[in-house]
Amino acid sequence: MEFHVYENAKAACEAAGVLLAAQITRKGDSVLGLATGSTPIPAYAMLVSWYERGVIDFDRVRTFNLDEYVGIDPQSPASYHYFMHEHLFSKVNLRPENVHLPSGQTAADGRAYDEAIHAAGGIDIQLLGIGRNGHIGFNEPAGEFTYGTHTVTLTQSTIEANARFFASPDDVPRQAISMGIGNIMAAKCIVLVATGSAKADAVYRTIRGPITPRVPASILQLHPCCVVLTDREAGALMMK
Ligand code: F6R
Repeated sequence: MEFHVYENAKAACEAAGVLLAAQITRKGDSVLGLATGSTPIPAYAMLVSWYERGVIDFDRVRTFNLDEYVGIDPQSPASYHYFMHEHLFSKVNLRPENVHLPSGQTAADGRAYDEAIHAAGGIDIQLLGIGRNGHIGFNEPAGEFTYGTHTVTLTQSTIEANARFFASPDDVPRQAISMGIGNIMAAKCIVLVATGSAKADAVYRTIRGPITPRVPASILQLHPCCVVLTDREAGALMMK
């Protein structure tokens, strides 16, 4: 696992943008695994800016998002569909048929998403944020690691953290559909970005703690190509 600390959050996120852009440059039909949340926004802004300047081309790029709320209207501003449209899809030349987000809530829906990833040749580079409790995607702390795309019941901590995108915490959907840890670990390369002091403990436990499904991101220690990028705050416990 590689670990790099940056002076501020913007720089850490832009460094993730650099790695995604490099992947697209080297392989025009790359398969990107994408995340939502506040953290990756500067990375998407960089990609848009490089696209506008003709540096990268999304014409043959395929994307698979990590997760989406169950039952949410894709047009709702709180949906991950909407987020991706706002920050990336509507601003670059990605083809609509090459863009994928998980949907539904049955085991068959999860299998269909796994099969679509497989049919695309697997994920070349997976962008990840991390929850304060060490979740990646919506893989919450649990007694065992998940494998494929599946429905999850959100923890209270995640509902509270995500309530900022909704009118009130009561409006946060209680379930989501998420790629599993197995899907994430199958990516050829992983870039995890964490910023802000609220993530410091999760970063420390991810990199230095025991590998346990109680800290889902800790399994990334076993990935052969995983880079963790943080700002000073999120990396603070690693410097001690
Ligand atoms: C989002 C996702 C989540 C977030 C995590 C951090 O697609 O999979 O795991 O990455 O909750 O969210 P932010 O970046 O908002 O702190």
